[in-house]
Amino acid sequence: MAERAVLKVVKGMAASDGAGVRLTRILGTPEAQMFDPFLMLDYFDTAEASDYVGGFPDHPHRGFETVTYMLEGRMRHADNQGNAGVIETGGIQWMRAGKGLVHSEMPEQAEGRMSGFQLWVNLPRELKMSAPAYQEFDAPKIPVESRDGGASVKVVAGRTAQGTAGPVSGGAVDALYFDVTLPQGAVFEEPVATDRAAMLVVFDGAVRVGGQVVSALGAAFLGEGDTIKAESVGDWPARFLVLAGRPIREPVAWGGPFVMNSREEVQQAFEDFRAGRF
Ligand code: FE2
Repeated sequence: MAERAVLKVVKGMAASDGAGVRLTRILGTPEAQMFDPFLMLDYFDTAEASDYVGGFPDHPHRGFETVTYMLEGRMRHADNQGNAGVIETGGIQWMRAGKGLVHSEMPEQAEGRMSGFQLWVNLPRELKMSAPAYQEFDAPKIPVESRDGGASVKVVAGRTAQGTAGPVSGGAVDALYFDVTLPQGAVFEEPVATDRAAMLVVFDGAVRVGGQVVSALGAAFLGEGDTIKAESVGDWPARFLVLAGRPIREPVAWGGPFVMNSREEVQQAFEDFRAGRF
């Protein structure tokens, strides 16, 4: 076993998106622009309704997937092709925007705490113009693996080494998406080989990984090695995401809500959107 090294540790940055939703951007910042195949990661967590009520009114996407994981609260989504629903506490929505759609993501609550993550996962060239598709699962459909030593691993996508499989198929990049809770002093170990880009995103407590301490809200981008090892070193249990996927290794042209392979394709996306062709 070779413990995976840490390439870089970053701290999330305060940001605002949609109609004034306050969030912490962990990936997609000047310090951490992307981590192939992952483009962006936002975390939101607030009990102040004014931080989230504006939501994310109608906006387009093309060329990648958006993954919304609600830790607490409820979010309603609706697109221009007739798809709609509510992502409930603990639920996941893995949306392939593909060739494009226009959708809104609005809080289904006017008070109370709302927290969760939105991750953007890139698509390879051959899938950027594919038909939009949804995978949606409520909390009861997401298995939790309890390990010796006290770790619990909620498996959203992919399969753990112990065989627990998440409901979401990891799609084009063979993604792993685990939500791990680790008691003080406990160790989480999971074989994830270097051919998968992997990151650890700490949102409670602190962990030591690859000799470095990462506390909330920080992320560690992992390098060489074949096993992820993280020890909970904070004053209370740690909670973190393990995100991994196969790098796409293609040119990335990113313009607002469109992520394509070339500037021309991004230009085309803006034209198609303006002309109502989504
Ligand atoms: Fe969106």
